Amino acid sequence: MQQKKNFYITTPIYYPSDNLHIGHAYTTVAADCMARFKRMQGYDVFYLTGTDEHGQKIERAAREKGKEPIQHVDEIVANIRKLWDLLLISNTDFIRTTEERHEKVVQKIFQKVYDQGDIFMSNYKGWYCSPCETYFTERQLVEGKCPDCAREVELLQEESYFFNMGKYAPRLLEHIEANPEFIQPESRRNEVVNFIKGGLEDLCVSRTSFKWGIPVPFNENHVVYVWFDALINYLTGIGYLQDEEQFNKYWPADVHLMAKDIIRFHAIIWPIMLMALDLPLPKKVCAHGWIMLEGGKMSKSKGNVVDPNILVQKYGADAVRYYLLKELTFGQDGLYSEEMMATRINADLANDLGNLISRTVAMIIKYFAGILPEQIETADLDEELKVCARQAYDEATEKLEKLDFSGYLHATSRLVSRANKYIDETAPWKLAKDERQLSRLAAVLYNLLECIRITVILTAPAMPTLITRANQQLRLWEQDEQVMWKDAGIWGIAGTGNQVFKDESLFPRIDLKNLRGEEPVEDMIEVKKPIQEEKPAMEEPTKQQHISIEDFAKLDLRVAEVIACEKMEKADKLLVLKMKLGDEERTVVSGIAQHYKPEELIGKKLVLVANLKPTKIRGVMSHGMILAASDDQYVDALTVTKDIASGNRVK
Ligand code: MSP
Repeated sequence: MQQKKNFYITTPIYYPSDNLHIGHAYTTVAADCMARFKRMQGYDVFYLTGTDEHGQKIERAAREKGKEPIQHVDEIVANIRKLWDLLLISNTDFIRTTEERHEKVVQKIFQKVYDQGDIFMSNYKGWYCSPCETYFTERQLVEGKCPDCAREVELLQEESYFFNMGKYAPRLLEHIEANPEFIQPESRRNEVVNFIKGGLEDLCVSRTSFKWGIPVPFNENHVVYVWFDALINYLTGIGYLQDEEQFNKYWPADVHLMAKDIIRFHAIIWPIMLMALDLPLPKKVCAHGWIMLEGGKMSKSKGNVVDPNILVQKYGADAVRYYLLKELTFGQDGLYSEEMMATRINADLANDLGNLISRTVAMIIKYFAGILPEQIETADLDEELKVCARQAYDEATEKLEKLDFSGYLHATSRLVSRANKYIDETAPWKLAKDERQLSRLAAVLYNLLECIRITVILTAPAMPTLITRANQQLRLWEQDEQVMWKDAGIWGIAGTGNQVFKDESLFPRIDLKNLRGEEPVEDMIEVKKPIQEEKPAMEEPTKQQHISIEDFAKLDLRVAEVIACEKMEKADKLLVLKMKLGDEERTVVSGIAQHYKPEELIGKKLVLVANLKPTKIRGVMSHGMILAASDDQYVDALTVTKDIASGNRVK
């Protein structure tokens, strides 16, 4: 029996400092699409994802929440796993760098590289920013100051272990030269080559300023640098030094997928570590672009992260995955907004694909009581449709092999459009009126069924539940039948004697009007209503209206500390406040500029309606509303009189 070919694909292991957003979801969905595609091609696939749990940032995030690091990461990791379930991620394993199977091997590797002289002890000299607790090189400083917080830095020195990367640089350059596919896309390859040619400094691979890491095996005062630790997950996840059979089966990795932010770690440090270990290099390191919001990159501090959990609950995993994969052109950044997403889902899925399926099913039911007779007649038009189907198969395959997910889904969309056009061209409703045309009518409907079958197979890596959902109507496959990719390259496989069924719509249309009126957290959606600079005139209730305690409980009132405040440009009445709620920071726009000078408010603890729908005011997203009492003379922002910590509820 012929042995199955193997395929090993990875995502970056994400930092569990906080819950993940759609940017992380993008990479994981993309790698999942690839894993599913390869499985459908008959490969034995190992798909690895996981979490990068050590390092100072994680330690600090945990301490800020008053937790031990492991307790903090355990909670976040549980959320990440749930998210991957929701998004139908079919990973083979999930590696955590705090697991023993990983830590043990990192120590062995560190020891080995040290013993062979590639890691050595020296003095680390660098520019240290004490608030950030981070060293920077001269090159990284911005105008001589910390590139992260812009504060003064000082030149410090401490003992550290270093990894001699320069030794391997010529070999790495040769490898990149000889393997043009190694770093993708090409623009990234050029960036990496130029960087290596600029000269590689020794890499500092241990730290003494914090403890949350893997101890250096021969010097417990040091922990292993988090990137040296994290990259090794790609080996430990498949059993390096523990399950050699499995390891040899899958290594070298076929694809390490990530975004461009971490390409240098994967295309320089990682291959050099592997060379030091005498292991073959991964076949491909591929960096996609970023998902951006109109206001820039998503980040917690900007308060503009988009939670994929909510999107999946609203639109379903298939649709969210489809949108993400189609929207980001290979290698480039792409803009995200919920409105753009809904528009895409409506156009491609509800209209084009959904209608193609529902019209075809409806016609088979109407004209043939749900069971198609044998295919009888073909015409030139049918040939063209078949060619288009074959092109979709060839192109989808080619684009997926190159990890061009958007190109792949554009290829499948073309087939759907062509099939819809074929309905207009053949006008089955006219054929149905003529007894002599019934066999032609059957052929037309059969051809449509074939287009649907092929499309559903081709889109299965992107939309994993569609095959099953569509099959409830079309009955093209036996239950649990393994549908293979190559079946989409063959015309004429669909059986004809099966009864088709009408079912509910596969992709319900999203009402964009509703979306605009209802949806939260959108940097992209301009609020078109006039800007509310002043407090709205409250209508006097004509009679006392009672609300229930449940109604009141809907309000999330919080103590929020003003940590920065400034006047909004060209708006007399507006202040822009930065407010702290426990660990969280938010921007709030408030119409009290005529009653408070910005500096008067800094340090005050006010009462914030924290769950008010975010809204954009003069281009600034406001996340909540502060409460104020007023009469004819005064406006008085509500505050607390005792030292209650920010973030606490007001109830
Ligand atoms: N822990 C390291 C990776 C170690 S791998 C050995 C890390 N973690 S991270 O949580 O910051 O994840 C970065 C990765 O998340 C990016 O490379 C990308 O895969 C994904 N993305 C995060 N934000 C993204 C966007 N806005 N858009 C697209 N991908 C994004 O770096």
